[in-house]
Amino acid sequence: MPGILLGDVLPNFEANTTVGKIKFHDFLGTSWGILFSHPRDFTPVCTTEMACAAKISDQFKKRDVKMIALSIDSVEDHRTWSEDVMAFHANKAGTPLPFPIIADDKRELSVLLGMLDPDELDKDGLPLTARCVFVIGPDKKLKLSILYPATTGRNFDEILRAIDSLQLTAQKKVATPVDWKPGDKVMVIPSLSDAEAASLFPNGVTTKEVPSGKKYLRYTQP
Ligand code: BEZ
Repeated sequence: MPGILLGDVLPNFEANTTVGKIKFHDFLGTSWGILFSHPRDFTPVCTTEMACAAKISDQFKKRDVKMIALSIDSVEDHRTWSEDVMAFHANKAGTPLPFPIIADDKRELSVLLGMLDPDELDKDGLPLTARCVFVIGPDKKLKLSILYPATTGRNFDEILRAIDSLQLTAQKKVATPVDWKPGDKVMVIPSLSDAEAASLFPNGVTTKEVPSGKKYLRYTQP
């Protein structure tokens, strides 16, 4: 079954979008990217998600993450719907959506990337796109994938939080614990010896004692 797994290079597909034809790798350039799909234009949950994404687009820009959405409607529908989205997004009526939407009206890309939801069908019995989130690194590889069904809207605060973790852990030999947020302590990855950790983390490493006596819960301030 087609789809894309962590570590795979995203295909350099061509697509029609609300800003014209793109080649995906050229669109990304040397930036990080987020490709998020939604089931259909002019639907309620999708509209709330797109308005939220538009509202916090500067947060993605700050992190050098290029945004692009996808659904199985046409460029024309996307353009008309974008006006609704920006009107729904308080004080932004009449301003353009700050990221493009891919028109995957033939579902070719959705099939290639494994984005279709077999339980959510249109009036012709064809599957709609699920709510996929793909975060892509500057090397064009898939760094994170989240998949929600059509009936569950996403949480963009969590997506930004996860991007902060991805970008930090791409630079430093650390991992972020449950509910981590920027500024919190992080964990030293298990493959590092204590000596390596001591030299890599000048802020020091503290180890939490546990009944097993094993010293694997090592924290540092990055
Ligand atoms: C929505 O975006 O509201 C939606 C789309 C497809 C199925 C269910 C909900």
